[in-house]
Amino acid sequence: MSSNAHITGWGMAVPEKVLTNQELEMMVDTNDEWIRSRTGIEERRIASDDETTASLATEAAINALRVAKLPPSQVDLIIVATSTPEYLFPATACLVQDRIGATTAGAFDLLAACSGFIYALNMAAETIRGGSNKNALVIGSETLSRVVDWTDRGTCILFGDGAGAFVLQASDEPGGIRSSVMRSDGSGGDLLWIPGGGSAEPATNQTVDDSHHFIRMNGREVFRFATRVMARSSEEAIKKAGMEVEDIDLIIPHQANLRIIDAAARGLKLPMERFAVNVQKYGNTSTASIPIAAVEAIEEGRINPGDNLVLVGFGAGLTWGALVATWTGPFAELKPIRMRRYRRLARVRSFLLRWARRLGAIFFGRRGDSA
Ligand code: ACO
Repeated sequence: MSSNAHITGWGMAVPEKVLTNQELEMMVDTNDEWIRSRTGIEERRIASDDETTASLATEAAINALRVAKLPPSQVDLIIVATSTPEYLFPATACLVQDRIGATTAGAFDLLAACSGFIYALNMAAETIRGGSNKNALVIGSETLSRVVDWTDRGTCILFGDGAGAFVLQASDEPGGIRSSVMRSDGSGGDLLWIPGGGSAEPATNQTVDDSHHFIRMNGREVFRFATRVMARSSEEAIKKAGMEVEDIDLIIPHQANLRIIDAAARGLKLPMERFAVNVQKYGNTSTASIPIAAVEAIEEGRINPGDNLVLVGFGAGLTWGALVATWTGPFAELKPIRMRRYRRLARVRSFLLRWARRLGAIFFGRRGDSA
């Protein structure tokens, strides 16, 4: 019998620094009223110099493991969905693996822009259902403030930094991730993109001068696309799960724009109260927005074991997707764990491994050299 993939842990991490609409008024030609009425956003978080996509991802992961009471050594798979990875390679997921001491986990990054968390949850759930993994950590983490053009009022007002994480665990009990829909349309790739820094336009002085390493967006077209796909993909996922819209307790949409969420609510003929919304506090944190909204909804008591949820998102690619999950919560029989201890051990282990590699290179370097 194949296992179900249950959501048993959740965590988030956001930078302390808040950037308000009023502060943005002093940076570009915009105003609080315009931003609020067109997007619903009031403020967003901005990473400090020592915060990165990997550091936020690690914090969110640790919080999620603590809730699931799952030691890092039992994590089989780490997927970080991100559009702003720490490096092109190694994967940000490998940095998280090292920092939490997940000694037997596979780790990779997934790039599907703001739909990334839905795609990653689905991938992790499939490996659990297929039997190759029992415990997976799925993280959405972003430092979009590093790729935003702070002179472009059309984009810089929208984005923020943060991370969110879920723990998925195998169990034969019914529930967990029930169905999913993943879609794409690459013909819209240039509606939302960063032209420079990849193999098409490697970094040069010219690409920097031309601001090709910043987000470029055709906001109106992305808006039109988003309002088309949010309700439709939610309905598809609900139907695939053998449910009706009325069976859904809460919808957790990608937090890009309040008007897009409002359009989804109208499309599904549901009141806004059935949606988790916190775009006003964090802006668009891309892959992190759905898990952050989920964590806050749990803290507000809006999600309880047995509830049916729809997670739905859209983003660059173009990509979009939705999934239906029945909420589980931590497995009851587990004892609380001390994450601080695991973290300290991971630091020592990483230090020793780096030194062992250095000493190995000094003593055996020539023999091991394949050149
Ligand atoms: N402040 C004041 N005025 C502005 C600002 C601003 N920050 N930005 C644009 N304007 C002006 C424009 O210049 C334009 O002026 P004009 O009429 O004189 O030319 C006017 O406001 C209207 O501009 P529109 O672009 O038509 O404004 P719109 O109502 O479409 O709102 C917005 C723009 C908020 C960007 C909207 O289109 C949107 O939310 N689009 C979706 C964006 C999105 O969700 N992106 C993320 C996708 S997820 C991912 O993968 C990262």
